[in-house]
Amino acid sequence: MSETLAEQGKQVAAEAAALLVQDDMKVGLGTGSTVAYLLPALARRGLTGIRCVSTSPATQRAAGELGLELATLEQLDGKLDVAIDGADQVDAAGWLIKGGGGAHTREKIVAFAAQLFVVIVSPEKLVERLGPPVPLEILAFGVGATLRALRCLGEVELRDAPPSPDGNLIADYRGPIGDPAELARELERIPGVVEHGIFPPQSVSEVLVGAADGQLRRLAGGKAAGLTPP
Ligand code: 5RP
Repeated sequence: MSETLAEQGKQVAAEAAALLVQDDMKVGLGTGSTVAYLLPALARRGLTGIRCVSTSPATQRAAGELGLELATLEQLDGKLDVAIDGADQVDAAGWLIKGGGGAHTREKIVAFAAQLFVVIVSPEKLVERLGPPVPLEILAFGVGATLRALRCLGEVELRDAPPSPDGNLIADYRGPIGDPAELARELERIPGVVEHGIFPPQSVSEVLVGAADGQLRRLAGGKAAGLTPP
C-alpha cells in the first residue's frame, strides 16, 4: 500500500473515532501519526466539558495548541471514558503491537484506565500473525543485565531514539514471537523491563480500520464494556 493511501486510511479511521466522543467525556489520547489526525477532528467537534489525558509530550503539545482541555490521569481519578490510539500491528485474533513511537507504557496505562479502548489503523496494519519488532521500555539502571536476560529470548537492539516520556530507554525485541501471550509473560518476568508493546485482545474494545476510499471497517475487540481487563 502506498504511503498516501495509508495516510488517507488513517485519517478516515481517526475521524470516525472522533465521532465516538461525547460532551463531558474523559478521553485518553494516544501518540503517533494516526492520532495526529484524531486531534484536529476532535477539536473541530466543539464538544463541551471533555478533558483529555495525553500519552506523550508530542500529543500534549498538539492537543494544547488545538485548544483541547488537558488533564492528568490523577486529576481524573485514574478513570477515562474512552482512549483512542493507533497501533503498529493488529493480528487476526486481536492482539496488538504498539510502541513505534516509544510511548507504549503510557499508552497501555491509559488504555487500561479507559472503559472503551478504540484503536485506529489503516489496512496495512492488519496482519495474520504478529511479527517483530516488539518495542520495549527499559530502565537505564542495569541495562546491560536486562539486555543479557532479554537476549536469552531473542535478538534485542537498543533503539537510537530519544528516551521515553518517563526517561527510560527504548529497545526492540527482534526475536520470534510465537504465542504473544507467552512472549508477553516472558518479557514481564525480566526485571528492568518497564513495559512491552504487546497488547492483549481483552484490552481492546474496537478496531476502526479506515480505507483510502472512505470506507470504514469496525472489528470488535475483546474488552467488555465497563470492565477493565485482568
Ligand atoms: C506510539 C504507538 C503508535 O500508536 C504506533 O506506533 C502507530 O503509529 P502511527 O499512528 O504513526 O502509525 O504505539 O508509541
